[in-house]
Amino acid sequence: MIRRIVSYMGSYKKYAILAIVCITAETTMELLIPFVMANIVDIGVANGDTGYIFEQGALMAACALVSMVLGMGSARFSATCGQGLGAELRKAEYKKIQGFSFANIDRFRTSSLITRLTGDVTTIQNSVSTGLRPAVRAPVMMITALAASFFMNPQLAVVFFIAVPVLAILLWLIIARVRPVYGQVQGAVDQVNRIIQENLIAIRVVKSYVRHDYEIDKFTAVNEDLKGTSVRAFSLTALNAPAMQLVMYSTIIAILWYGGRLTMVGNMAIGALVGFLSYVLQVLNSLMMISNVLQMLTRSLASGKRIMEVMDEEIDITPPTEGTTALVASGDIRFDHVYFKYKQDAQNYVLSDVSFHIASGQTVGIIGETGAAKSSLVQLIPRLYDASSGAVVVDGRNVKEYDPEHLRQSIAIVLQKNTLFSGTVEENLRWGKQDATDEEIRKACWIACVDEFIGRLENGYATELGQGGVNVSGGQKQRLCIARALLKHPRILILDDATSAVDTATEAKIRARIQNELYGTTKILISQRVSSVEDADQIIILKDGRIDAIGSHETLLHDNAFYQELYASQKNGALR
Ligand SMILES: Nc1ncnc2c1ncn2[C@@H]1O[C@H](COP(=O)(O)OP(=O)(O)O)[C@@H](O)[C@H]1O
Ligand SMILES: [Mg+2]
Repeated sequence: MIRRIVSYMGSYKKYAILAIVCITAETTMELLIPFVMANIVDIGVANGDTGYIFEQGALMAACALVSMVLGMGSARFSATCGQGLGAELRKAEYKKIQGFSFANIDRFRTSSLITRLTGDVTTIQNSVSTGLRPAVRAPVMMITALAASFFMNPQLAVVFFIAVPVLAILLWLIIARVRPVYGQVQGAVDQVNRIIQENLIAIRVVKSYVRHDYEIDKFTAVNEDLKGTSVRAFSLTALNAPAMQLVMYSTIIAILWYGGRLTMVGNMAIGALVGFLSYVLQVLNSLMMISNVLQMLTRSLASGKRIMEVMDEEIDITPPTEGTTALVASGDIRFDHVYFKYKQDAQNYVLSDVSFHIASGQTVGIIGETGAAKSSLVQLIPRLYDASSGAVVVDGRNVKEYDPEHLRQSIAIVLQKNTLFSGTVEENLRWGKQDATDEEIRKACWIACVDEFIGRLENGYATELGQGGVNVSGGQKQRLCIARALLKHPRILILDDATSAVDTATEAKIRARIQNELYGTTKILISQRVSSVEDADQIIILKDGRIDAIGSHETLLHDNAFYQELYASQKNGALR
């Protein structure tokens, strides 16, 4: 895992190496200073040699200066390398997510993907920025201090054989317990983000239903859960300090007791005992640093695992290995005994045994109750989801045999839940075609009957849309989405209830213009209104994911009960 994370460092690896070199040099430099000091006291002061004192003093100052420069360098390099790694990880993850199919995203949830892209990466990035220094410093300090203490008094140094393993075991016990909790903390962050995200996206609904209290309660629940899990994680982590103190003071007592006896029998000078104690403190201190580094590492590994889950997610819609150059030429569609469900382990199929044929250039209406799987059906055509079994065939070729990019370029689908992006009206429209001429854009807007509305805007096509297109009405947004789809000059145009918020008169106008202007394009219209589909070449009636009937307006009106009922209810009703 560590190796995998480090592999994302790429060109920032050199900064990591520079940082490690600086830290090692700095630590060594610091260890030199006491020796110089000892020289000043033992030689300079003892002999009253002022010249020597100044000379060694200057050396000491130089050492301090060099160590300061190295310290600054190491801080700079570790920060560069940590932040660089963070940026690279985010980039790689973002790129991977762009390749996700709808099913991949369903599996993770958007909010969790956001945490994995931000919080988890930040954890790793900060661990490298702040953890590199103690991670290198501690072992250097420990080894030199251990060597020095053994050199000073090997007999006394034996206490380390007990103290170090005891402390190591204690720290290991703590880490082993805290490890799974860190994963849970990140999971709890996911939940908090999910609630915040849902609430903010739907803030208008929340306000209009006066659901603040309910939403606050919902948030409080996940927030408390996050607090609880975090308290558990960090109070376990905090056990580090007492464990350390326990071992440190026990060691000091042992040394004072044993060393004291040594001094009493004259085997050890008191000064040496005091010096020895300072090494003991250094060894234990470095162990403490190591344990902090290990905690950070544990936390980073929990985050790393979550990031790698994203990186390892198998993208279930991939281009075929051969025949990727095929383009959709005419827009003929055939469904051949198609079964579909969103999750492999789901009990029931959303679509069952769906077969039909749409000749190129035809206009087809799909009608059915909500939940009848109309949206699910059309999403199979541009391969937003894959059929579980059976074949979806476009122009005589299974959709799985097209490069998804080619396929989707030829098929424009206005989804039921569609969004605009922040940016100007024109930028949004150009999503359909980057290099569209002004003429093309105007034409598409005219067909979608949105030109008049844009004309009335203060800045016309340069008007800024809020995030998700909040500053346009539902019907205006739908028409902008249709114009955006038309700009693709698709072979197949799918409108999934795309005019539900547009008044019937305007809708009829849009339909007529599409009919005339996109003569050769295959058109699929999903609607709740009989009036929207009655002129279609064929009408498919879906019922609980199965085809109830296929026919023209006249035949269905003659022999389909559902259609007759729908027609009767809408004939004089408000929906017409
Ligand atoms: N992303 C999804 N994951 C799981 N189930 C879904 C998803 N989208 C829709 N469904 C389910 O599939 C069924 C058909 O939905 P849908 O195709 O949207 O119906 P319609 O468009 O006819 O109203 C519904 O029962 C719905 O709950
Ligand atoms: Mg739908």
